[in-house]
Amino acid sequence: MTENSHTSNASSMPLNQAAGTTGGSFTEGSAEYTAAGNEMSASFLADKKRSDALKIKIRKDPSHFTMLTGDRPTGRLHLGHLFGSLMGRVKLQNMGVHTNIIIADYQVITDRDTTEHIQDNVLNLVLDYMAAGIDPNKTMIYTHSAVPAENQLMLPFLSLVSEAELERNPTVKAEMEASGHELTGLLLTYPVHQACDILFCKANVVPIGKDNLPHVQITRTIARRFNRRYAKKNPVFPEPSALLSDTPEIPGLDGKKMSKSRGNSIKLSATPEETAKLIRKSPTDSERMITFDPIHRPQVSALLTTASLCSGRPATEIAAEIGNAGAGALKAYTTKVVNDFLAPLRERRAELAKDMDSIHDILRQGNKRANEIANQTLDQVRDAMGMRY
Ligand code: TRP
Repeated sequence: MTENSHTSNASSMPLNQAAGTTGGSFTEGSAEYTAAGNEMSASFLADKKRSDALKIKIRKDPSHFTMLTGDRPTGRLHLGHLFGSLMGRVKLQNMGVHTNIIIADYQVITDRDTTEHIQDNVLNLVLDYMAAGIDPNKTMIYTHSAVPAENQLMLPFLSLVSEAELERNPTVKAEMEASGHELTGLLLTYPVHQACDILFCKANVVPIGKDNLPHVQITRTIARRFNRRYAKKNPVFPEPSALLSDTPEIPGLDGKKMSKSRGNSIKLSATPEETAKLIRKSPTDSERMITFDPIHRPQVSALLTTASLCSGRPATEIAAEIGNAGAGALKAYTTKVVNDFLAPLRERRAELAKDMDSIHDILRQGNKRANEIANQTLDQVRDAMGMRY
């Protein structure tokens, strides 16, 4: 697939308003980037198509693929992460894909000026991963700050993108507005840093949400430009593809976008009682009859979606069953199926949490391995650039 192919069709169709951003696309010649705001653009559809095709290829020959994805250590993971990404990572891991997870600690300071709780957040991410089924013997888990050679890729990579390209990234713009901060140099350039995450281990599969699509686009551009400029005969980097989740975005309990900061999400690490309380407090509407209607009844529908995912039953079936019993009954049912569904994961998590030294060791081992890989890649980069002295 060429870089231009998904910019040719300018038509777009409306999408889910909650999405802040969608993918865009580069064209090499003009370095043109088209962001589509709140609309499903032609480029998003092309990304989705490419992602679906990739899934088929992975199934055929999993060991041919290297996955890299990750999270910012800004808090505990929630149900949205579990269905939207963790379960997919575990599946790839168990299929035999080479799997890598970055705990993106330097991304925390893209738009905030504190690293408070960072140790705690990082170690708890490792716990969340392992409770969800990530096996550190199969999946490398590492942090940005522990891998200098990965960070060093940033210098040659920055030389491969223009200021205009950086400024056109719709996700960076949205994040800057949401933060209320000025645009810092790191926020402007973190998509390039994310390219370092992906390319240092030569990942060719990047599971992400659609707000991260522009970052995968720029990663592809950087890989291509590096190879073209310095490594024509022996390309150093693959051009990775985004893998989009099949699970539609799960709304928060209030019907709004689920977010760590909004308090509308069920944490994997929460107790059954905390979960019950959160669901009990979640707002509904004044209509007693329970129906599944995400547009007109986002709050009731968010509960139904949550219950549906955790019970494996269609939301409409649950709604019909509860019917006139009202929101109280819906909340009781949702609480039960969420807590039942999460019970084994929470049990594993609590068991693992008894020995935080081992969790720390797992991270140290991941970091050690990541350093080996990053040093190797950086050597290849230096070779290609004639900078090995
Ligand atoms: N930006 C991602 C997020 O906020 C986290 C991340 C950092 C990431 N580096 C990555 C995702 C590399 C995929 C690949 O969710």
